[in-house]
Amino acid sequence: MLRWLCLMMGVCSLLHAQWDGPYENLKVLPEDIGKNELRDIMRQWSMDLGVRCTHCHATPTGKFEDIDFASDDRKPKKIAREMLKMTRAVNKDFFKPHDKEISCYTCHHGTTDPRPLETILRAGYDEGGIDQLEKTYREKRKTYHGAGAYNFKPWSALSVVANSLLPNENWPDLKKIHLLNLEFNPDYDGSHFFLGAYYLDVEINETLARDHLTAAMRSNAFWTPRKSARLAKKWAHQQKSEAAERLLRMMVAVAPNHADTHANLGIYLKINGRMEEAGQALQKALSLKPDHPAAKPALAEMEQK
Ligand code: HEC
Ligand code: HEC
Repeated sequence: MLRWLCLMMGVCSLLHAQWDGPYENLKVLPEDIGKNELRDIMRQWSMDLGVRCTHCHATPTGKFEDIDFASDDRKPKKIAREMLKMTRAVNKDFFKPHDKEISCYTCHHGTTDPRPLETILRAGYDEGGIDQLEKTYREKRKTYHGAGAYNFKPWSALSVVANSLLPNENWPDLKKIHLLNLEFNPDYDGSHFFLGAYYLDVEINETLARDHLTAAMRSNAFWTPRKSARLAKKWAHQQKSEAAERLLRMMVAVAPNHADTHANLGIYLKINGRMEEAGQALQKALSLKPDHPAAKPALAEMEQK
């Protein structure tokens, strides 16, 4: 009767016998622990890991009221015991001396898997490719964004994974990662810069390249010209001089009033022996910024010859 009542009201949990003790299978917590204390610990663990009791406790029907609390059938319960021992040991050896302690939350932050998001994403990628990465990111973001569990800043997880994947040169996947990042962080210059370069080197689309480089400049007018100079140099070394020049010229088109873009182009042309065009670009840079630290010596050197 009581069971029926609570089933209907959905609050049976607190009336369940095992919940109140006596406890039958405590191996790490003290066997004579009080029910309030046990209850507080269990609630705390659930919150620290962001789960329900059924994550660790077996229930034949999936329902709370049928949980067999003493059972060790579920793996997370067994892991939790080891975690408790570990947490205690760490506290005893390292934190007790200065009166501090860590808890499950210190690592877990409301998740079951406290590894850094980039590690989780990369593991997903290695296991199931770009689709799994994207699925995992969307799920984690949906569940945890705003909870402080993971770092969703635009320059973090997705960017770190993208950088780690650069050596693979799988451009379609990298494109997807950066587009995903922009979906949530529409102003992030790092992803705009990547895509701008992508559309000048891999899939040639000058309109999109211009859009992305313009956005990159808008968010970061300091680093974007520097990054383009560095990338153009790298491309030139890789025998991709056409793409290198396309990038530097596009930067001039995107930011015609920024002295660095002209200086970068001028220096590139000078290295490639195209002195007349180089001189024009360097002069343009100096007309915008008379003491330009790179354009000035470059032009002086040309005039000496
Ligand atoms: C992170 C895993 C985890 C979560 C979540 C969790 N528990 Fe536990 N629970 C354990 C572990 C591990 C033990 C055994 C501890 C030991 O061996 O000393 C335990 C023991 C218990 C016991 C004692 C069972 C017995 O008779 O030995 C009860 C009752 C209990 N939990 C209730 C709950 C309730 C209610 C919730 C939800 C509010 C909950 N637990 C959430 C891991 C968990
Ligand atoms: C020092 C950091 C740290 C602390 C403290 C810590 N954990 Fe963990 N925990 C981890 C890591 C790392 C994993 C492994 C993630 C993986 O590979 O699944 C993990 C995994 C787990 C899992 C298995 C994951 C799952 O899907 O259920 C459980 C359960 C768990 N911890 C419970 C706890 C409990 C309860 C506490 C506090 C008593 C705790 N942990 C404290 C780092 C920690």
